[in-house]
Amino acid sequence: MNFQHSHGDNPHTSHVHPPEKHHIHESQLDYSNEPTPTRSLSNFIVHCHTPFNAEPQLPLLVNSGQVTPANVFFKRNHGPIPDIALDDHKVFIGVQQNPQYYFNTESPAIEWRQVSMYDIMTKWPKATITASLQCAGNRRDGLAAVKEVKGVIWGAGTTSNAVWSGPRLCDVLQDVAGVSLDMLHDMIRDFHVAFEADDHVHEDVCYGSSIPLRKAMDPAGDVILAYEMNGKPLSRDHGFPLRVIVPGFIGARSVKYLQKILIQPQESKSFFQRHDYKILPPWVNHDNVDQSWDTAASLTEMNIQCVICTPTEQQVVASSKPVTIKGYAIAGGGRAVYRVEISIDGGHTWEPVDKMEQKPDKKSGMYWAWALWEKTVPRMNKSTEIIARAYDSSGNVQPEFPIWNYRGVMNNAWSRVHTLPIFQHHM
Ligand code: MTE
Repeated sequence: MNFQHSHGDNPHTSHVHPPEKHHIHESQLDYSNEPTPTRSLSNFIVHCHTPFNAEPQLPLLVNSGQVTPANVFFKRNHGPIPDIALDDHKVFIGVQQNPQYYFNTESPAIEWRQVSMYDIMTKWPKATITASLQCAGNRRDGLAAVKEVKGVIWGAGTTSNAVWSGPRLCDVLQDVAGVSLDMLHDMIRDFHVAFEADDHVHEDVCYGSSIPLRKAMDPAGDVILAYEMNGKPLSRDHGFPLRVIVPGFIGARSVKYLQKILIQPQESKSFFQRHDYKILPPWVNHDNVDQSWDTAASLTEMNIQCVICTPTEQQVVASSKPVTIKGYAIAGGGRAVYRVEISIDGGHTWEPVDKMEQKPDKKSGMYWAWALWEKTVPRMNKSTEIIARAYDSSGNVQPEFPIWNYRGVMNNAWSRVHTLPIFQHHM
């Protein structure tokens, strides 16, 4: 990335204020400048063009290797993709001046500090982590099959894995906002770091979300402000010029087009924190959802997940030849995928997979990246249900059946595909 001018701004500049934001009606959202030519549309199942929501075909996802290329990585948006100039982009970080009001968001004592992209790319050490993102709505189709749900009916391709680079959020907050690890003991133990994006959505004034301050400040939490994906500047679809990567958490917390960061006593008031991305209780439906949001916690860490990517559902396989089953598994919160098991007799007996690769982060030792696995079974000479399930390092295992919830999130039921045999007598 090149800067046209040198932007060696002092991040401690005061008297700045983030731009005011206003609600926009859905019909006013402008989709005329989408990065459509850069999208390899044939790689994807496109659920919606405006906003662009697309997941890769499962065989392509798993055959693309451990690191998913950007033109295969799933794309999840809530509004038009902003077109932001690198030189002009500023991140506003709110800092409390009066310790008595420390982190009271309503207090006039908040001073905004402005950090340029030049600062982001030069002032703090560049960290690189390999981390999977998974939308909480991954496999929503399995819950929609049980009962009506609200949301994009995603299949199992809303998970991908990439290498992300940028400064650690804990370094930036320590330097700009004066927050340190030892402050977490008492006063600000339950605080959150809220993020806001420079985009327009119809649900709120912009996309926003928050994460516990503990996760943000934990050096082994590996939260970074990423400006690179797989060694290249982020593409517009994935958050150019800057996004948060919150490894181990649901994808919704990894805010793209990052514009504002504020440490505050409670979680973000954004629609996407309070009125979305929650496992609502089973009695909540279309009629009573509006009164029910406070009854469920905002999602943070992902749960244990495992998906068969090949063969695909109803795939025809030669009855006389071995069949190789391939898939991914992912555990939330930095936990390892401990074991992936396969059953081809309806879950009566199970066998381990033949191969599985999952690498921990070199520095923190946490497992942020998915595991890709394979198993070859001798042959399938009748129609067969293949089932896969995974255990994580804390002993969590996937449930046998989907657990329905109205927003259709966090479906991690056993993964099942059915193959059809083809008999090739003359081969
Ligand atoms: N950030 C912004 N600004 N706008 C969004 O719509 N979607 C979130 C998150 N960050 C979103 C966002 C959700 S729900 C997910 S799953 C991930 O981004 C998807 O990231 P990706 O599109 O790079 O795969």
